[in-house]
Amino acid sequence: PRAKYWVGDDLYKFQGFWIPTVAIPGIIKFQTQFKARDSDLLVTSFPKCGTTWLKSLVFMISNRSIYSISDNPLTKLNPHDIVPSLEYNVYRFKPYQDLEILPNPRIFSTHTPHPLLPSSIINSKSKIVYMSRNLLDQFVSRWHFKGRLKVQGASTSISEAFEMFHSGVDGFGPSWEHVLSYWKASLENPNKVLFLKYEEVKENPTFYVKELGDFLGYPFSEKEVKLGMIEEIAKFCSFENMKNLEVNKSGKRAIAHSFENNAYFRKGEVGDWANYFSPSMAKRAIKLMDDKFSGSGLSF
Ligand code: A3P
Repeated sequence: PRAKYWVGDDLYKFQGFWIPTVAIPGIIKFQTQFKARDSDLLVTSFPKCGTTWLKSLVFMISNRSIYSISDNPLTKLNPHDIVPSLEYNVYRFKPYQDLEILPNPRIFSTHTPHPLLPSSIINSKSKIVYMSRNLLDQFVSRWHFKGRLKVQGASTSISEAFEMFHSGVDGFGPSWEHVLSYWKASLENPNKVLFLKYEEVKENPTFYVKELGDFLGYPFSEKEVKLGMIEEIAKFCSFENMKNLEVNKSGKRAIAHSFENNAYFRKGEVGDWANYFSPSMAKRAIKLMDDKFSGSGLSF
């Protein structure tokens, strides 16, 4: 089955999830061709939950012995050009990048739901980090992001978009199924999947930089802790710093893409949904979240 979504972004029900049709060939190639290494790091998320932030954190933490903070590749390139998406970059445009020649640790990202990940990833010692977020903030973030496509003819009102969100017709959705798939995987295998919440990372970034270091196999030494390395990485990756880097203020993605770099840095706040939801939308959305997450041990 197909569903109309945003202009230029039709969805297709693929292996139980609503996947943007443009991403399906890439997901199939990822599923059938990707050969994981034990050292691989996988940044996973539902769109607009903090992928850009998590890419920066994982890159900085795992590469900190190579680069200084003030002169690292993120000062010159957008995080999406440093950590490529498997379905949107790596396996989208021919000729495909040769992944075998990349040095360790290779870092990739994907919005692929957990049940659809290739067995090569599941069976290797590679690490998966998932960024989750209050889905109402995620919804508002995506609505703004997609609204940038207006020039190309997309002008979906927030109430129309909300009906799609509410029915689960959502790119890589239903959103709650996506979140729950990684949540369950993290409970079953906590050494393999680290489940983060945007709100908690925002509240205490240094705690999570350390946590990520431990989980990914790049723990901070006592000397690094004393030198303030954890704080420096958290500060470098903060919304305020990343948004104001010249490359993100004015740059464009190096690879073909519809969005300018600044599209990935809007407001970076918790609870912005309350500024956009009508009382009836809010009531329905809160009930929906209660229904979908009840009994899972997860709430936002
Ligand atoms: P808002 O639209 O609410 O501002 P993604 O990276 O998955 O596309 O998600 C984008 C959301 O993360 C946007 O949310 C964006 O502003 C926010 N974001 C981007 N970089 C961030 C950072 N370094 N710290 C916190 N939030 C960030």
